[in-house]
Amino acid sequence: MKNLISQLLADAVDRLKADGVLPTDLSPSIQVENARDKAHGDFASNLAMMLAKPAGMKPRDLAEKLIAALPAHQAVASVNIAGPGFINFFQDAGWLAGQLEAALADPQLSVRAEVPAQRVVVDYSSPNLAKEMHVGHLRSSIIGDAVARILEFLGHTVIRQNHVGDWGTQFGMLLAYMEEHSVDAEAELGDLENFYRQAKKRFDESEDFAARARQRVVDLQAGEPSCLALWERFNSISLGHCQAVYDRLGVSLTPADVRGESAYNADLQGIVADLRSAGLLTESDGAQCVFLEQFKNAEGNPLPVIVQKAGGGYLYATTDLAAMRYRHAELHANRVLYFVDQRQALHFQQVFAVARAAGFVPADMQLEHMGFGTMNGADGKPFKTRDGGTVKLVDLLDEAEQRALRLVKEKNPELPSDELRAIGAAVGIGAVKYADLSKHRSSDYSFNFDLMLSFEGNTAPYMMYAYTRVASVFRKLERSMDAVADLAPMALVEPAETELGAHLAQFNATLNYVAREGTPHVLCTYLYELAGRFSSFYEQCPILAADSETQRDSRLRLAALTGRTLKQGLNLLGINTLERM
Ligand code: ARG
Repeated sequence: MKNLISQLLADAVDRLKADGVLPTDLSPSIQVENARDKAHGDFASNLAMMLAKPAGMKPRDLAEKLIAALPAHQAVASVNIAGPGFINFFQDAGWLAGQLEAALADPQLSVRAEVPAQRVVVDYSSPNLAKEMHVGHLRSSIIGDAVARILEFLGHTVIRQNHVGDWGTQFGMLLAYMEEHSVDAEAELGDLENFYRQAKKRFDESEDFAARARQRVVDLQAGEPSCLALWERFNSISLGHCQAVYDRLGVSLTPADVRGESAYNADLQGIVADLRSAGLLTESDGAQCVFLEQFKNAEGNPLPVIVQKAGGGYLYATTDLAAMRYRHAELHANRVLYFVDQRQALHFQQVFAVARAAGFVPADMQLEHMGFGTMNGADGKPFKTRDGGTVKLVDLLDEAEQRALRLVKEKNPELPSDELRAIGAAVGIGAVKYADLSKHRSSDYSFNFDLMLSFEGNTAPYMMYAYTRVASVFRKLERSMDAVADLAPMALVEPAETELGAHLAQFNATLNYVAREGTPHVLCTYLYELAGRFSSFYEQCPILAADSETQRDSRLRLAALTGRTLKQGLNLLGINTLERM
C-alpha cells in the first residue's frame, strides 16, 4: 500500500511538473508512513512540506494541488490534509478486504519478491572447527538462517555456505596431540574445548611437542596422506558437533552446505598471482600486500590487506578473496550476504574492495556484510561461565529447555509429561532464537533467560501463545484455519477489524524489507504488533458469539489469515508453533 501511494504521489508530482507548478528538475524521495492517529487516515506523507520551499508555495496550498493531481485508485477511499500540510490517505475497506481474501486463497499468502529473483549466497554460522562453536556463532546461525528462509520464501534461489575455519596453524598442534593420545583421542574429542586447551598446554610446555606440531603443519600443507587423514577425522568430529547444534536449534544448514576455508587452498597461489598481474601488490617487510586509497589508519597512513605472509603462508583475507571469486564464477551469485561479527567490518570492507579492484567479481554483484553485535551475559559483560570459561552451546540449550519445561508445567499441570517435554523444548529453543532475532542485529545484546522466557512482551512464549489462541478458536469449531473457502466473504466494519486487516496486508512488504536489509527483528516487531491487534480484535469483535452468520464467517476468515500469517512468520524465523501450550 505504501508503495502504491508513493507511486500515486510520484504521478501527481509529474503532472504538476508538466503543468508548470513544480520545477522540472525536482526528483523528491517520497516518504509514506503509517499514520499515527488512525482517525486522520491510514497512511501519511510529508511530501508537500518537503517540496514547499523549492516550489515557492505554502505547504497546505501545495498539498491541495498534489491531491487534485493524484490519479484515482480503488485502494484509496479518500485523501485529506492535516496539520501543517501532511497528506493523509484512507484505505478503502472493500479493496483491503479483497487483498486479504487473495492472500487467504494463496499458500504463499500473497508474498512475492518485489525485485527480480536472484541467486543469493548466504554465508553464515561458519565456526572455526579447531574449537567448540561459541555464542558468536549462535547469533550468526540464527540470524543468517532466518534471512535465508525469508529469501527463499520470496522466491530467490538461496545457496547456503558454511565457511568453516578448517585450516591454519592451530591444526598442527591438534594433530600432534591426537597422535600422542591416539587411544583416547576419540573420547576426548567429545569435549573440543578441553581438547584444544590440553593441546595448547602441551604446546606451551614442551619444546619437543611444539616442534612436532610445527612439522604437522608442514606435512598437512604438503598433503602428507596420514596427516591428512587425521585432519579429516578431526574435522568430521568437530563438524558433527556443529550439526548436532543445528539440528537441535532447527537451523537449516546441512553437511552439504559446508565449504570450509581449506576448499580454497588450491586457488590461493592464483589469487596472489592475479593480484600481482593486476598491479595491485606491494611488498612490505617481505609480505605481499594490497594498499587501497580508501583505507587509512588513524594517523592517515595507508592500511594494507595482507594476502601472503613473508614465510609464504596465506591468510583469512586471501581465502575470502578466493571464496568471492568462486561464488561469482561457480555459484553464479547475484548477491552475497555475510552474517559475521561486526568486529570484522573492516576486513569485509577491505576484501570487497580488493575483489572489485582485481575484477574477481563484477561490479553488479552485491556484497554485503550483515554484521552483528556481541552477545553479553545478563550483566552486560561478555558472555562467560561463572569461572570465566566459554559457555558451551549445548549447556545453554539444555538450560533453556529445562527452564521452559518448568514454566509450562506450572501453567498446564494436567498435560501428559511427554507433551510437556515437547512443549518445553519448543518454547526453550524458540525463546533463545527469538530473543536474538528480535533485537537489531547490529546492537550488542544481553542474554537473559528470565526475559526471553516471559509470557509477556515481545518474546517467543508470548508469540507462540498468541498463535495457540487463534488455533483454539478453530479447534472449538472443529475446523482448520487452512480451509475457510466455504465461509461468507470478509467485510471490514469495526475499527479493530480494519486495523488488523491493514496490518495483515503489510506482510509482503515487511518480508521484502527484511530480505533487503537482513534485519529479522523487523519481522519480529511486525508479528508482535499483529498479535496485539488480534488481541484487540478478539476482545472487541466476538467471533463465536457474532450477531449473524455472515459476521461470524467474516471474522473467522480474518482470524484464519492472522493464524496463518503468525505461523508462517514464526516458521520463517525458524520457530515452530504449537497447537496448544
Ligand atoms: N570463521 C570465522 C570466525 O569464526 C567466520 C567466517 C565468516 N565467513 C567468511 N567468509 N569470512 O570468525
